[in-house]
Amino acid sequence: MTKYIGILTSGGDSPGLNAAIRGVGKACIGHYGMHIIGFRDGFRGLMENRTMRLDGGELSGILTRGGTILGTSRDKPHRMPVGGKVLDMTDVIAGNYHDNHLDALVCLGGGGTQKNALRLKQKGLNVITLPKTIDNDVAMTDITFGFDTALGIATEAMDRLHSTAHSHHRIIVVEIMGHRAGWLALGAGIAGGADVILIPEIPYEVESVAEAIRERSRNGKPFSIVAVAEGAISMQDHLAMQAAQEKKTKGSKKVAVPPAHATEIQYADHTLRLAKKLEQLTGLEARVTILGHLQRGGIPSAADRLLATRLGTACADLISQGHYGVMVAAKGDGTRAVKLEDVAGKVKTVPPGHPWVESARRVGTNLGD
Ligand code: F6P
Repeated sequence: MTKYIGILTSGGDSPGLNAAIRGVGKACIGHYGMHIIGFRDGFRGLMENRTMRLDGGELSGILTRGGTILGTSRDKPHRMPVGGKVLDMTDVIAGNYHDNHLDALVCLGGGGTQKNALRLKQKGLNVITLPKTIDNDVAMTDITFGFDTALGIATEAMDRLHSTAHSHHRIIVVEIMGHRAGWLALGAGIAGGADVILIPEIPYEVESVAEAIRERSRNGKPFSIVAVAEGAISMQDHLAMQAAQEKKTKGSKKVAVPPAHATEIQYADHTLRLAKKLEQLTGLEARVTILGHLQRGGIPSAADRLLATRLGTACADLISQGHYGVMVAAKGDGTRAVKLEDVAGKVKTVPPGHPWVESARRVGTNLGD
């Protein structure tokens, strides 16, 4: 029996999405003789039944393209803005899945997508996911596609910022994406030779950072590159948040706990305040560079194309075996199927004793603690 497969991309876009769509699609169609149909703009397109043909040459020439040919959105099946209200559209989505006679739905996305896919699995749909995000924060997989490309972009940015920081005897604070995980800032900070790396997993003391910068000045290097993850937090704010969280758990209604996902403006505000403070504490001029969405744009790296193709083709293999309800994770040179229940709702953060952290310390990088 010929299988009918749906595919969508959800959450923030990421380099390698098209390579993954191509990997799933070419293997499903060419190798297994299945039919595949795309849904536009994530779960919203599935809810509105907006489709895209993928069997007429659309999969050719997209391996190297950035973004996603399907479009994406951050809409969640169970909380979707519709006509001025936020509604649970899970049943509508399930209905469209059946009306399209789908045997399986492939969802390409990050942590949020894993949770949404699990909800659809619980509605009886045959769902299978792939882990994509530049943040590299999806649990149970060695790595996510998009991360390597973003790592290269952020590293190159730091290389370029070094020469201007050096010439002007300045501190340059570079804000790097990553949501609540520090993988990107840590990886790019190490590869780009940042003098200070601040990540959410290691709350920082601004005085420790300032002293590291002053020490460099005393040693004849009156310039510094500070790589700061967008989710980085000072020890002071960390303790205040913990206290607020505890009060909230104890039932006090008056305490405002910061939102789980800060906005770009909130992140930038933190970074600007940090730069100002470092200026005051060191006497050096400071500048801020927010890399922002540059880190997600453009062509995927060779490593991301390879990873996305490996995961995409392994996904087709699992579909052919009728193995659903799983995420196709990267495991060494191979892949493995991980139950969605074991992934959804988990965030892979940097363990404080991770080898990358230790390496950064060994080369004398200040981590703010
Ligand atoms: O999850 C990927 C990511 O790029 C994060 O690093 C960042 O916090 C967020 O998405 C930005 O989201 P948006 O594209 O909605 O501004």
